[in-house]
Amino acid sequence: MASNQSAVDPNPNTKEPLRRVGGLPESGTPVDEMLESLRSERSGDLDWRGGRAFSLVYNADDSELERLQHEVASLFLHENALNPFRYRTLLRMEGEILEMARGLFGAGYAGLTSGGTESIFMAVQTARDHAVERGITSPNLVCAITAHPAFAKACHYLGVQMVTTPVRADGRADPEAFASVIDSSTAIIVASSPCYPFGVIDPVTEIAALAMERDVLCHVDACLGGYLLPFWEALGQPVPPWDFRVEGVTSMSADIHKYGYSFKGTSTVLYRDQDLYQRQIFMYDAWPGGLYASASSAGTRPGSPIAAAWATLTHLGVEGYMRLNRRVLDATLGFRSVIDDTEGVRITSDPDMSVFEFGTDPGADDTPDIGVIGDVMDDLGWNLDRQQGGLHIMLSPGHDRSVDAFRHDLGQAILRRGTAREGVHTYGAVVE
Ligand SMILES: Cc1ncc(COP(=O)(O)O)c(C=O)c1O
Repeated sequence: MASNQSAVDPNPNTKEPLRRVGGLPESGTPVDEMLESLRSERSGDLDWRGGRAFSLVYNADDSELERLQHEVASLFLHENALNPFRYRTLLRMEGEILEMARGLFGAGYAGLTSGGTESIFMAVQTARDHAVERGITSPNLVCAITAHPAFAKACHYLGVQMVTTPVRADGRADPEAFASVIDSSTAIIVASSPCYPFGVIDPVTEIAALAMERDVLCHVDACLGGYLLPFWEALGQPVPPWDFRVEGVTSMSADIHKYGYSFKGTSTVLYRDQDLYQRQIFMYDAWPGGLYASASSAGTRPGSPIAAAWATLTHLGVEGYMRLNRRVLDATLGFRSVIDDTEGVRITSDPDMSVFEFGTDPGADDTPDIGVIGDVMDDLGWNLDRQQGGLHIMLSPGHDRSVDAFRHDLGQAILRRGTAREGVHTYGAVVE
């Protein structure tokens, strides 16, 4: 067997140091010393528990849930769900998560993935392969410009052409614009429930009807809304049809690590029919290592996110999700009323849930710069992502405690004049 000879001393008995160790330290760091230094280092990182952070972490603000997640994560920390038959507890948990997801959204088939992007990759890959089988050589995907960048990424990696259309004045995808660009190479069209930038649900019924009429697939991206909207509706909020109850919807993505309130690393991808779902299953035995089978793009899969997702869904149940989402609703009404009451700013759409953008009010006499408002809010400890047209807000249960502070600080920020320090936020980052 070949080994990395150049990195290792060829003679293990010599006392000569290893060559080419790169950044690996010569001697290790003791545990307590390291923990202390990490605690100190991360004290400057974004505080997701403080009620001033948005979108990167969904703070359920539930100490029992957090305790459960920590315990379960450490129980399953070293287990690998690559071969679930070796870890039967994970296998059972995964099966039960998928059963809960299918029931919640009315889907026939479901798979577990590591996040929204992987779920979207699976849906684009299954649509591509479905199209190729039907004789389409260069498949395309049609979506509104508000679709999450995960679609652009999936199309880029998977050799699918992405065709984007403008949105209507209300920020929702425009079925007429879709109709004008769908062609004989279209594999799939996409609706968001809701889209990230404005929190509005696209007209899923019209888009899915168009998909049926043109004989193409229809994906609903409910990465954000999936695990919230069923409860939002039960809380009496108006929710337009958005899931598999709509005829013509063929697949969906819905993230447990967002409004499912588990920590990062789990999402679900769902299908109406077995035919599509089976296209994401991969089996391979043309190597000497035995039969390799996997149901998504990942190989080795960490046990902790799966176990924590199961524990979170099971611990909370309908009652728990209603309790947490009632708080999200209170926070949403609170933050929206602060913006509505503050002269000079306005919510830039009519959001369907707890996600929205606010910007300067073009009708105001003395219009403040939204970037300057963002800067002042940053200085006051808030973390409002800058979009091209305003600042982004995404509310979690813990934000119901921050409404008064938001009112106070936005009131200060709105008075400031000047030039903004920075433009559009980087939404992600490339670390080399
Ligand atoms: C609507 C929507 N779709 C997809 C994604 C991608 O999810 P992830 O970041 O888990 O890959 C996001 C992330 O915010 C989203 O808001």
